[in-house]
Amino acid sequence: MSDAPTPHSVFRPDFLAGKVALVTGGGTGICRGITEGLMRHGCRAVITSRKADVLAKSAAELEAATGQRCLGIPADVRKPDEVEAAFDRTLAEFGRVDIVINGAAGNFLAPAASLSYNAFRTVMEIDAIGTFNVSKAAFSKYFREHGGNIVNISATLHYRGTPLQTHPGSAKAAVDAMTRHLAVEWGGAGIRVNCIAPGPIDDTEGMKRLAPGDTKRKFEQQIPLGRFGRISEIADATLFLVSDAATYITGTVLVVDGGAWMTMGGFVPWE
Ligand code: COA
Repeated sequence: MSDAPTPHSVFRPDFLAGKVALVTGGGTGICRGITEGLMRHGCRAVITSRKADVLAKSAAELEAATGQRCLGIPADVRKPDEVEAAFDRTLAEFGRVDIVINGAAGNFLAPAASLSYNAFRTVMEIDAIGTFNVSKAAFSKYFREHGGNIVNISATLHYRGTPLQTHPGSAKAAVDAMTRHLAVEWGGAGIRVNCIAPGPIDDTEGMKRLAPGDTKRKFEQQIPLGRFGRISEIADATLFLVSDAATYITGTVLVVDGGAWMTMGGFVPWE
Protein backbone atom coordinates (compact mmCIF):
# COMPACT_ATOMS: atom_id res chain seq x y z
CA MET A 1 0.00 0.00 0.00
CA SER A 2 1.65 3.24 -1.08
CA ASP A 3 -0.44 5.56 1.08
CA ALA A 4 0.00 3.77 4.42
CA PRO A 5 -1.71 5.53 7.31
CA THR A 6 1.20 5.54 9.76
CA PRO A 7 2.94 8.83 8.94
CA HIS A 8 -0.21 10.85 9.53
CA SER A 9 -2.13 8.44 11.74
CA VAL A 10 -4.19 10.11 14.44
CA PHE A 11 -4.15 6.86 16.41
CA ARG A 12 -1.60 5.90 19.05
CA PRO A 13 0.87 3.59 17.27
CA ASP A 14 0.50 0.78 19.82
CA PHE A 15 -3.22 0.96 20.58
CA LEU A 16 -3.80 -2.53 19.19
CA ALA A 17 -0.72 -4.12 20.80
CA GLY A 18 -1.42 -7.72 21.81
CA LYS A 19 -4.52 -7.98 19.63
CA VAL A 20 -5.10 -10.35 16.72
CA ALA A 21 -7.21 -9.68 13.64
CA LEU A 22 -8.55 -12.06 11.01
CA VAL A 23 -9.24 -10.31 7.71
CA THR A 24 -11.04 -12.10 4.88
CA GLY A 25 -9.97 -10.92 1.46
CA GLY A 26 -6.91 -9.50 3.23
CA GLY A 27 -4.45 -10.41 0.49
CA THR A 28 -5.40 -7.57 -1.84
CA GLY A 29 -7.01 -4.18 -2.19
CA ILE A 30 -8.97 -2.45 0.53
CA CYS A 31 -8.71 -5.34 2.96
CA ARG A 32 -4.97 -5.60 2.56
CA GLY A 33 -4.85 -1.88 3.38
CA ILE A 34 -7.05 -2.42 6.42
CA THR A 35 -4.74 -5.23 7.53
CA GLU A 36 -1.73 -2.94 7.16
CA GLY A 37 -3.46 -0.23 9.16
CA LEU A 38 -4.24 -2.66 11.97
CA MET A 39 -0.68 -4.06 11.96
CA ARG A 40 0.87 -0.59 11.98
CA HIS A 41 -0.94 -0.06 15.28
CA GLY A 42 0.42 -3.17 16.98
CA CYS A 43 -2.01 -5.86 15.82
CA ARG A 44 -0.97 -9.29 14.56
CA ALA A 45 -2.99 -10.50 11.60
CA VAL A 46 -4.33 -13.45 9.68
CA ILE A 47 -5.34 -12.84 6.09
CA THR A 48 -7.53 -15.26 4.15
CA SER A 49 -8.56 -15.69 0.54
CA ARG A 50 -8.69 -18.49 -1.99
CA LYS A 51 -5.24 -17.76 -3.40
CA ALA A 52 -2.37 -19.20 -1.35
CA ASP A 53 0.35 -17.57 -3.48
CA VAL A 54 -1.18 -14.09 -3.18
CA LEU A 55 -1.59 -14.54 0.58
CA ALA A 56 2.00 -15.69 1.09
CA LYS A 57 3.40 -12.71 -0.83
CA SER A 58 1.14 -10.19 0.90
CA ALA A 59 1.78 -11.62 4.37
CA ALA A 60 5.55 -11.37 3.85
CA GLU A 61 5.27 -7.80 2.55
CA LEU A 62 2.98 -6.75 5.40
CA GLU A 63 5.36 -8.22 7.97
CA ALA A 64 8.29 -6.40 6.39
CA ALA A 65 6.36 -3.11 6.30
CA THR A 66 5.02 -3.21 9.85
CA GLY A 67 7.24 -5.46 11.97
CA GLN A 68 4.19 -7.42 13.11
CA ARG A 69 3.37 -11.05 12.37
CA CYS A 70 1.00 -11.88 9.54
CA LEU A 71 -0.17 -15.34 8.59
CA GLY A 72 -1.87 -16.19 5.29
CA ILE A 73 -4.45 -18.97 5.55
CA PRO A 74 -6.17 -20.08 2.34
CA ALA A 75 -9.93 -20.38 2.93
CA ASP A 76 -13.03 -19.84 0.82
CA VAL A 77 -15.61 -17.93 2.89
CA ARG A 78 -18.36 -19.93 1.13
CA LYS A 79 -17.10 -23.12 2.80
CA PRO A 80 -17.84 -23.29 6.55
CA ASP A 81 -15.35 -26.11 7.12
CA GLU A 82 -12.53 -24.02 5.62
CA VAL A 83 -13.62 -20.98 7.64
CA GLU A 84 -13.69 -22.95 10.89
CA ALA A 85 -10.28 -24.45 10.10
CA ALA A 86 -8.91 -20.92 9.57
CA PHE A 87 -10.10 -19.90 13.05
CA ASP A 88 -8.67 -23.11 14.56
CA ARG A 89 -5.29 -22.33 13.00
CA THR A 90 -5.45 -18.71 14.08
CA LEU A 91 -6.14 -19.73 17.67
CA ALA A 92 -3.42 -22.41 17.58
CA GLU A 93 -0.92 -19.87 16.28
CA PHE A 94 -1.84 -16.75 18.25
CA GLY A 95 -4.07 -18.00 21.09
CA ARG A 96 -6.74 -15.35 20.52
CA VAL A 97 -8.68 -13.36 17.94
CA ASP A 98 -10.04 -9.92 18.77
CA ILE A 99 -11.05 -8.39 15.46
CA VAL A 100 -12.74 -9.90 12.40
CA ILE A 101 -12.98 -7.98 9.15
CA ASN A 102 -15.47 -9.43 6.66
CA GLY A 103 -14.01 -8.11 3.43
CA ALA A 104 -14.06 -10.99 0.96
CA ALA A 105 -16.23 -9.99 -1.99
CA GLY A 106 -16.81 -10.64 -5.65
CA ASN A 107 -18.03 -8.27 -8.31
CA PHE A 108 -18.30 -7.56 -12.01
CA LEU A 109 -20.52 -5.36 -14.15
CA ALA A 110 -23.52 -7.18 -15.58
CA PRO A 111 -27.15 -6.27 -16.35
CA ALA A 112 -29.58 -8.37 -14.32
CA ALA A 113 -31.19 -9.61 -17.54
CA SER A 114 -27.99 -11.33 -18.68
CA LEU A 115 -26.73 -12.37 -15.27
CA SER A 116 -26.77 -16.16 -15.04
CA TYR A 117 -28.51 -17.74 -12.08
CA ASN A 118 -25.16 -19.04 -10.96
CA ALA A 119 -23.50 -15.63 -11.29
CA PHE A 120 -26.06 -14.01 -8.97
CA ARG A 121 -25.78 -16.90 -6.51
CA THR A 122 -21.98 -16.76 -6.58
CA VAL A 123 -21.80 -13.12 -5.48
CA MET A 124 -24.53 -13.63 -2.87
CA GLU A 125 -22.57 -16.59 -1.53
CA ILE A 126 -19.24 -14.79 -1.30
CA ASP A 127 -20.50 -11.47 0.10
CA ALA A 128 -23.56 -12.31 2.19
CA ILE A 129 -23.28 -15.98 3.12
CA GLY A 130 -19.52 -15.62 3.49
CA THR A 131 -20.02 -12.81 6.00
CA PHE A 132 -22.40 -14.99 7.99
CA ASN A 133 -20.10 -18.02 7.86
CA VAL A 134 -17.12 -16.07 9.15
CA SER A 135 -19.11 -14.19 11.82
CA LYS A 136 -20.70 -17.39 13.12
CA ALA A 137 -17.35 -19.18 13.24
CA ALA A 138 -15.80 -16.21 15.09
CA PHE A 139 -18.66 -16.30 17.58
CA SER A 140 -18.62 -20.01 18.27
CA LYS A 141 -14.84 -20.40 18.28
CA TYR A 142 -13.89 -17.41 20.43
CA PHE A 143 -16.08 -14.30 20.61
CA ARG A 144 -18.94 -15.91 22.61
CA GLU A 145 -16.57 -16.30 25.58
CA HIS A 146 -14.27 -13.32 25.07
CA GLY A 147 -16.17 -10.64 23.17
CA GLY A 148 -14.73 -9.03 20.09
CA ASN A 149 -15.15 -6.67 17.19
CA ILE A 150 -16.60 -7.46 13.79
CA VAL A 151 -16.36 -4.96 10.94
CA ASN A 152 -18.22 -5.87 7.75
CA ILE A 153 -17.29 -4.23 4.47
CA SER A 154 -20.38 -3.26 2.53
CA ALA A 155 -21.03 -0.75 -0.27
CA THR A 156 -23.46 2.02 -1.22
CA LEU A 157 -24.65 0.36 -4.46
CA HIS A 158 -28.06 -0.57 -3.08
CA TYR A 159 -28.91 2.89 -1.70
CA ARG A 160 -30.03 4.06 -5.14
CA GLY A 161 -30.20 0.83 -7.14
CA THR A 162 -26.95 1.23 -9.13
CA PRO A 163 -27.32 -0.24 -12.64
CA LEU A 164 -25.39 -3.41 -13.48
CA GLN A 165 -24.93 -4.11 -9.79
CA THR A 166 -28.03 -6.06 -8.76
CA HIS A 167 -25.89 -8.96 -7.52
CA PRO A 168 -23.44 -7.13 -5.20
CA GLY A 169 -26.04 -4.53 -4.21
CA SER A 170 -28.42 -7.26 -3.07
CA ALA A 171 -25.62 -9.03 -1.23
CA LYS A 172 -24.42 -5.86 0.50
CA ALA A 173 -27.97 -5.00 1.57
CA ALA A 174 -27.97 -8.38 3.32
CA VAL A 175 -24.62 -7.54 4.92
CA ASP A 176 -26.01 -4.24 6.25
CA ALA A 177 -29.02 -6.06 7.71
CA MET A 178 -26.80 -8.78 9.18
CA THR A 179 -24.72 -6.10 10.86
CA ARG A 180 -27.76 -4.92 12.79
CA HIS A 181 -29.12 -8.38 13.57
CA LEU A 182 -25.83 -9.67 14.92
CA ALA A 183 -25.18 -6.44 16.85
CA VAL A 184 -28.52 -6.94 18.62
CA GLU A 185 -28.08 -10.65 19.29
CA TRP A 186 -24.42 -10.53 20.33
CA GLY A 187 -24.15 -7.21 22.15
CA GLY A 188 -24.67 -8.97 25.47
CA ALA A 189 -21.57 -11.06 24.84
CA GLY A 190 -19.43 -7.94 24.50
CA ILE A 191 -19.33 -8.15 20.74
CA ARG A 192 -19.63 -5.02 18.63
CA VAL A 193 -20.70 -5.50 15.01
CA ASN A 194 -20.30 -2.58 12.66
CA CYS A 195 -20.00 -2.01 8.97
CA ILE A 196 -18.13 0.30 6.62
CA ALA A 197 -19.61 1.21 3.25
CA PRO A 198 -16.75 2.46 1.08
CA GLY A 199 -17.45 4.61 -1.93
CA PRO A 200 -15.18 4.66 -4.98
CA ILE A 201 -11.65 3.95 -3.78
CA ASP A 202 -8.50 4.33 -5.91
CA ASP A 203 -6.17 1.42 -6.63
CA THR A 204 -8.71 -1.32 -6.09
CA GLU A 205 -9.73 -4.24 -8.28
CA GLY A 206 -13.34 -3.13 -7.89
CA MET A 207 -12.70 0.34 -9.31
CA LYS A 208 -10.56 -1.01 -12.15
CA ARG A 209 -13.58 -3.10 -13.12
CA LEU A 210 -16.28 -0.53 -12.42
CA ALA A 211 -14.66 2.73 -13.55
CA PRO A 212 -12.06 1.96 -16.20
CA GLY A 213 -10.06 4.61 -18.07
CA ASP A 214 -11.70 8.00 -18.66
CA THR A 215 -14.87 7.16 -16.73
CA LYS A 216 -12.96 7.86 -13.50
CA ARG A 217 -12.68 11.60 -14.20
CA LYS A 218 -16.35 11.80 -15.02
CA PHE A 219 -17.24 10.16 -11.74
CA GLU A 220 -14.85 12.32 -9.71
CA GLN A 221 -16.59 15.47 -10.92
CA GLN A 222 -19.82 14.17 -9.38
CA ILE A 223 -18.39 13.48 -5.91
CA PRO A 224 -18.92 16.21 -3.27
CA LEU A 225 -15.33 15.87 -2.03
CA GLY A 226 -14.11 15.87 -5.66
CA ARG A 227 -12.00 12.73 -5.73
CA PHE A 228 -11.93 8.98 -5.24
CA GLY A 229 -11.00 7.82 -1.75
CA ARG A 230 -7.75 6.29 -0.59
CA ILE A 231 -7.40 2.78 0.81
CA SER A 232 -5.83 4.32 3.91
CA GLU A 233 -9.06 6.27 4.51
CA ILE A 234 -10.99 3.00 4.78
CA ALA A 235 -8.25 1.65 7.06
CA ASP A 236 -8.56 4.73 9.29
CA ALA A 237 -12.34 4.30 9.56
CA THR A 238 -11.79 0.67 10.54
CA LEU A 239 -9.26 1.68 13.18
CA PHE A 240 -11.83 4.05 14.65
CA LEU A 241 -14.54 1.37 14.80
CA VAL A 242 -12.29 -1.16 16.58
CA SER A 243 -10.80 1.43 18.92
CA ASP A 244 -11.84 2.55 22.38
CA ALA A 245 -13.17 5.72 20.74
CA ALA A 246 -16.09 3.59 19.51
CA THR A 247 -16.96 1.48 22.56
CA TYR A 248 -20.65 2.54 22.47
CA ILE A 249 -21.05 2.05 18.72
CA THR A 250 -22.60 -1.13 17.38
CA GLY A 251 -24.94 -2.03 14.53
CA THR A 252 -23.96 1.03 12.52
CA VAL A 253 -23.07 1.39 8.87
CA LEU A 254 -20.39 4.06 8.44
CA VAL A 255 -20.37 5.43 4.91
CA VAL A 256 -16.87 6.47 3.82
CA ASP A 257 -17.37 7.81 0.32
CA GLY A 258 -16.71 11.55 0.14
CA GLY A 259 -20.48 12.00 -0.13
CA ALA A 260 -20.52 10.09 -3.43
CA TRP A 261 -23.67 8.03 -3.05
CA MET A 262 -25.85 11.13 -2.76
CA THR A 263 -24.71 12.70 -6.02
CA MET A 264 -22.88 10.20 -8.18
CA GLY A 265 -24.56 8.62 -11.19
CA GLY A 266 -24.59 4.88 -11.67
CA PHE A 267 -21.85 2.90 -13.37
CA VAL A 268 -23.31 2.82 -16.87
CA PRO A 269 -20.37 2.44 -19.27
CA TRP A 270 -22.35 3.32 -22.39
CA GLU A 271 -23.51 6.72 -21.09
N1 COA B 1 -20.06 -11.20 -16.19
C1 COA B 1 -21.10 -12.05 -16.11
N2 COA B 1 -21.03 -13.24 -15.42
C2 COA B 1 -19.85 -13.52 -14.83
C3 COA B 1 -18.73 -12.67 -14.88
C4 COA B 1 -18.86 -11.46 -15.63
N3 COA B 1 -17.84 -10.61 -15.74
N4 COA B 1 -17.71 -13.25 -14.20
C5 COA B 1 -18.18 -14.41 -13.71
N5 COA B 1 -19.47 -14.58 -14.09
C6 COA B 1 -20.31 -15.72 -13.82
C7 COA B 1 -19.72 -16.98 -14.42
O1 COA B 1 -20.00 -17.08 -15.80
C8 COA B 1 -20.40 -18.05 -13.59
O2 COA B 1 -21.72 -18.28 -14.00
P1 COA B 1 -22.10 -19.54 -14.96
O3 COA B 1 -21.66 -20.77 -14.23
O4 COA B 1 -23.59 -19.44 -15.12
O5 COA B 1 -21.36 -19.32 -16.25
C9 COA B 1 -20.52 -17.40 -12.23
O6 COA B 1 -20.38 -15.99 -12.42
C10 COA B 1 -19.45 -17.85 -11.28
O7 COA B 1 -18.20 -17.57 -11.87
P2 COA B 1 -16.88 -18.37 -11.47
O8 COA B 1 -15.73 -17.75 -12.16
O9 COA B 1 -17.12 -19.83 -11.67
O10 COA B 1 -16.87 -18.14 -9.89
P3 COA B 1 -15.69 -17.88 -8.94
O11 COA B 1 -16.17 -18.23 -7.61
O12 COA B 1 -14.43 -18.53 -9.40
O13 COA B 1 -15.46 -16.31 -9.10
C11 COA B 1 -16.30 -14.07 -9.13
C12 COA B 1 -16.19 -15.37 -8.38
C13 COA B 1 -17.28 -14.32 -10.23
C14 COA B 1 -16.87 -13.02 -8.23
C15 COA B 1 -14.98 -13.61 -9.71
O14 COA B 1 -15.18 -12.48 -10.48
C16 COA B 1 -13.91 -13.31 -8.68
O15 COA B 1 -13.47 -14.18 -7.96
N6 COA B 1 -13.43 -12.08 -8.63
C17 COA B 1 -12.32 -11.67 -7.77
C18 COA B 1 -12.75 -10.86 -6.63
C19 COA B 1 -13.43 -9.60 -7.02
O16 COA B 1 -14.33 -9.62 -7.84
N7 COA B 1 -13.06 -8.51 -6.41
C20 COA B 1 -13.72 -7.26 -6.57
C21 COA B 1 -14.48 -6.95 -5.32
S1 COA B 1 -15.35 -5.43 -5.48
